[in-house]
Amino acid sequence: MPSLDLTLYTPHPKQLEVHDDTHRFKVLNWGRRTGKSTLAANYVLIAATQVIGRYWIVAPTYKQAKNIYWLDIIHNQIPKELISKKNEQELTIQLINGSVIELKGADNEDSLRGAGIKGLVLDEYAFMKPNVWELILRPMLADSKGWAIFISTPNGFNHFYQIADNAQSTLPEYKDWWYSHATTFDNPHIDDEEIDQIKAEVSEDQFAQEYMAEFRKMAGLVYKDFDRAIHVISPTQLPDMDMYTRGFGIDFGFTNPTAIVFVAIDYDQNWYVYDEVYKPGMKTEETAQAIKDKMGGKLFTYRIGDSAQPQEIANIATHGVIIEPVIKQKDAISSGIRLINDMLKTQEGTGKPKLFITENCKNLIYEFETYHYPEDKGDKNASEDPVKENDHALDALRYLRLKLYYGNPNMRINKPRNMLEKRRRK
Ligand SMILES: Nc1ncnc2c1ncn2[C@@H]1O[C@H](COP(=O)(O)OP(=O)(O)OP(=O)(O)O)[C@@H](O)[C@H]1O
Ligand SMILES: [Mg+2]
Repeated sequence: MPSLDLTLYTPHPKQLEVHDDTHRFKVLNWGRRTGKSTLAANYVLIAATQVIGRYWIVAPTYKQAKNIYWLDIIHNQIPKELISKKNEQELTIQLINGSVIELKGADNEDSLRGAGIKGLVLDEYAFMKPNVWELILRPMLADSKGWAIFISTPNGFNHFYQIADNAQSTLPEYKDWWYSHATTFDNPHIDDEEIDQIKAEVSEDQFAQEYMAEFRKMAGLVYKDFDRAIHVISPTQLPDMDMYTRGFGIDFGFTNPTAIVFVAIDYDQNWYVYDEVYKPGMKTEETAQAIKDKMGGKLFTYRIGDSAQPQEIANIATHGVIIEPVIKQKDAISSGIRLINDMLKTQEGTGKPKLFITENCKNLIYEFETYHYPEDKGDKNASEDPVKENDHALDALRYLRLKLYYGNPNMRINKPRNMLEKRRRK
């Protein structure tokens, strides 16, 4: 390549630390406007000029990849002299040395296929589905021994928190990981006065999380009591479940994922969610097979699906999986939520909750940590129902819970005794 003398951006001190670090995996827990995306683009650009190969920048959605990177950062920051070809449809940029930089949206999992990726940046990782890294991106780095940088502002105690926590660990399995923390004040290109003004305008929690990059519980969470430290256990901590009652709940999807949760229930009504299925685009046959595989020939007393999806229930029955529709009363969402919230509470006496989830159920855990109510608009009659997203595995669990509460004769004794007696006297 003919020698080109180009000056790229001038990193600020926190950005410089990232360029200087040599760990293979880096986790950057940085506040808003700290210079995350600017760093991401320049880091990838420098890497691509040094080692020829394919590099990815992954944003939560294709639209963000296009708006943040294509239309702004890449356009303004990559010197034209370095570019040999651009493809706006594919969001790819080929450099004159043969390296290729590709912009991706994590929402389109089908586009996340490739091999031999030399390095990738996940920008706003806290806002992506948790399995994108483990199931899709991590394996792609295996043959090329590629590197990855996770950049995000926190979003509650979710998978980004987990990976940030791991990156700070001194355990030998995390020796390739590095952690960085920065606040908006660390970006010298943002006026401190401006930040102080924002501080006066937003809530304390919001400022702490978004600008100071401190992990806080998400606002308006439906399952506020959910806490990884209390409810999530390792599969090795499961009791011997041979004699327990088993059940699964299913929420059918297609564009949305089909979600299935598998539960074992002991004599004291402790629930152990020990497995899940969570996948969009599943055909009936594939769903039936997945259920049979997970059931592993065991007896499942409860197999509960959404009564609003009778056609799916009928279809799957032709593949030998019989599912019972849940009986939904008028307030099935709020009462189901109340029942599950009750199970999350630690009980007097034992100090333990009634619901445990094994850590392999990543999507259910993610939904517990993100399912939230709409923002309070000061309207007293505002709908009581949460925002309809990140609710698929939670719905599956709720159907099962509702069925056992309202549909199981053994549970009816929970109704006020005098009410039952009145009825009997008639
Ligand atoms: N090294 C730098 N030199 C000059 N300007 C910078 C530098 N780093 C960041 N900036 C500027 O700071 C602002 C915020 O940068 P950027 O968009 O990269 O931050 P971000 O953390 O990705 O923000 P957001 O939280 O909105 O995603 C932009 O105006 C950007 O141009
Ligand atoms: Mg950004």
